Amino acid sequence: MFSRLVKPAKTSFIKSCAKNFRTSSYENAKVAVCGASGGIGQPLSLLLKESSLVTELSLYDIVHTPGVAADLSHINTVARVKGFVGPDQIRDALKGAEVIIIPAGVPRKPGMTRDDLFNTNASIVRDIAQAAAEVAPKALVGIISNPVNSTVPIASEVFQKAGVYDPNRIFGVSTLDVVRANAFIAEAKGLDPAKVNVPVIGGHSGVTIIPLISQAEPKVDFPKDQLKALTERIQEAGTEVVKAKAGAGSATLSMAYAGARFAFALCRALKGESNIVECAYVRSNVTEAKYFSTPLLLGPNGIQKNLGLGKLSDYETELLKAAIPELKKNIAKGEEFVNKK
Ligand code: NAD
Ligand code: LMR
Repeated sequence: MFSRLVKPAKTSFIKSCAKNFRTSSYENAKVAVCGASGGIGQPLSLLLKESSLVTELSLYDIVHTPGVAADLSHINTVARVKGFVGPDQIRDALKGAEVIIIPAGVPRKPGMTRDDLFNTNASIVRDIAQAAAEVAPKALVGIISNPVNSTVPIASEVFQKAGVYDPNRIFGVSTLDVVRANAFIAEAKGLDPAKVNVPVIGGHSGVTIIPLISQAEPKVDFPKDQLKALTERIQEAGTEVVKAKAGAGSATLSMAYAGARFAFALCRALKGESNIVECAYVRSNVTEAKYFSTPLLLGPNGIQKNLGLGKLSDYETELLKAAIPELKKNIAKGEEFVNKK
């Protein structure tokens, strides 16, 4: 299904990002998916099962995981698949996991913002983070559940309270924003989407999503009005899918693709592969916001180096200014949720 690994030489950011979706034949990682029976969880688990980067695949949900695991376990790839269902089994599911990906929680319906999901999803992420902090404190954790701008601070506070917080190991998965930016820019310029890379910084909702089209590889230029329209489409792409699905949820298949790309990047970095770069929403001192997405060089212990903002255009500087107050509010809401208890 996906091309085999070509041994990487010194790679550029774009080569590194493309590489993160290829599978190899020599890796070895235990990966857990929390929310594995859902719209994202099932296709994500399929992509993980298909990859020989993963040798153990642990599927956790509050429903249906025995069936999902039985189904996937019949695929003739190396990963051993086990299903775990309900809170009594979450610690067994996560024990020994090196990578934990969390797409658990409710999705949006038309008319809702991601923040409208907070009341339901905050406690789901808190409880999964609590179990992870107890039995897999060294895992690299990728949080997909919305609102990502708040769920990452929630998980981080839980790890902090448990005394095992390492800011280099907790990530908000914003890969879908990069995937979308690449697709839309490639479409506008008639380029091969697999060969385009647009860093997307900030957070994962509306104005906090900041595509850095001025830093796109290959370099692209747009008139002002087209640049604004493309930027706004990337910022509102999640809503475009929510509207199109008309009450049946939000992006699942593209998110599974993006989630798998990010999980593979973590697996590769864990095993010591060099030049693994992905954007993700992490604890950061790059801006005034305590959590912020930027390109990250990944290594065996998570973030090896935060690659920062790079040079922003005037337009992107304005977008950044608009994002910071919203991000600060979302972050404070997540932190208060954990600390008021
Ligand atoms: P879904 O409803 O199809 O699936 C969610 C799954 O989570 C279900 O199987 C459900 O049983 C499970 N679940 C609920 N409570 C749980 C708990 N306490 N422990 C474990 N599992 C639990 O939803 P979906 O479409 O897969 O979306 C999941 C989340 O991902 C939503 O919050 C959505 O907004 C978010 N999302 C994020 C991005 C992103 O870019 N970060 C993209 C798309 C969707
Ligand atoms: C997305 O960007 O598709 C997700 O965050 C889901 C949503 O609610 O838009």
